Amino acid sequence: MKLKFNSEGKFKILLFGDIHEHEDYKTNLRFKDMQKLMNAALDEYKPDLCVLLGDNCSTELFSKDSEKFKELVTDLLAPITSRGIPVAAILGNHEHDHGHEDEVVAVYQSIDGCLMRNETAPEITGNANFKELIYSSNGEKPVFCLWFIDSNNCFEDRSISHYDYVHPDQIEWFEEESAKLKELNGGKPMPSFVFQHTPVPEEYNLLRKAKWWELPVSVKGYNSHSQTRYVGKKGVEGCVGEGPCSPDVNSGQFASWKKVGGVIGAFFGHDHLNDFSGYTDGIFLAQHRTAGFRAYTDGCRSCVRLVTIDEKNPEKFTHELKRFKEFGLKCECLGPIMKRITDRQSFWMHAFANVAMGIAGIAIIAMIITKLIEYFGG
Ligand SMILES: [Fe+2]
Ligand SMILES: [Fe+2]
Repeated sequence: MKLKFNSEGKFKILLFGDIHEHEDYKTNLRFKDMQKLMNAALDEYKPDLCVLLGDNCSTELFSKDSEKFKELVTDLLAPITSRGIPVAAILGNHEHDHGHEDEVVAVYQSIDGCLMRNETAPEITGNANFKELIYSSNGEKPVFCLWFIDSNNCFEDRSISHYDYVHPDQIEWFEEESAKLKELNGGKPMPSFVFQHTPVPEEYNLLRKAKWWELPVSVKGYNSHSQTRYVGKKGVEGCVGEGPCSPDVNSGQFASWKKVGGVIGAFFGHDHLNDFSGYTDGIFLAQHRTAGFRAYTDGCRSCVRLVTIDEKNPEKFTHELKRFKEFGLKCECLGPIMKRITDRQSFWMHAFANVAMGIAGIAIIAMIITKLIEYFGG
């Protein structure tokens, strides 16, 4: 399937993060609500490509019944494929959980309109590393490249890093292919985006240590960053809802983007409460919260992101987030209290949770001190 800029010279990509669909989807209201969001976004934006950012299904179903798994993936993608829109799905850590990665990729690949595949040799790490070129609107020459990288599962030694990273052999493949594209592009690096599930460690460059008065609205860093509480730096847009769960080992992927050139933006899933974005070292990084209601989420803030590239100026792009509620949709899967709470800004939810935890912590310490005084004093 050849991707190309549309007749208006634009290419619109619609992103869906961490849907985490399960086998009971046919009777589950959470699936129904997710599909409402998908349909509303597809009708409004009429994208040229959709991307599912991994953890699309978190189920053991393939091990139990591969045909039923194919039915689940087919139904999950149906709103997109039935409109004749191509969809590039990538693997998240949960697609790696049950040891059938190659078969799972084959299922996606067998669905009409689905672009997931593995372009790298079997000995290269990952099960679905591939790229797609976007051609000029007259179809004559490639103008832009989309990289879809498998960020693998958890790291084998969790004392070093909880999550795995993009391995040096994957980075080497990216560099070799980038060199070919540069040649094709008249000696200039071809502008490109990277889509992958687990964020690069450089995500933390978009955050800074919270001041004491910001603690109620801060988030705790993840793993090697867990001693620090963070807020977004000035200029960072969107919600910092949790410490980014990037790997604790930096394999040099971001440095490779800088060295090779061409990568102007990277889009990640994995952290269901984060949708912040900003520039670090000239590259745009964006986290994408869940578009579903299955995994941990703050409910009605589930959203999609539209990214639009302009053929005349492919190194510039626009992006916007739109949430479930902003499409005018009514949520059926959440009860009235959760619906009301999650209609509010995450900012206030986090502030409330942090203050409540702080008060509880102080109360526990005060109680322990009182007991110690009683014990030693009496
Ligand atoms: Fe996830
Ligand atoms: Fe994940």
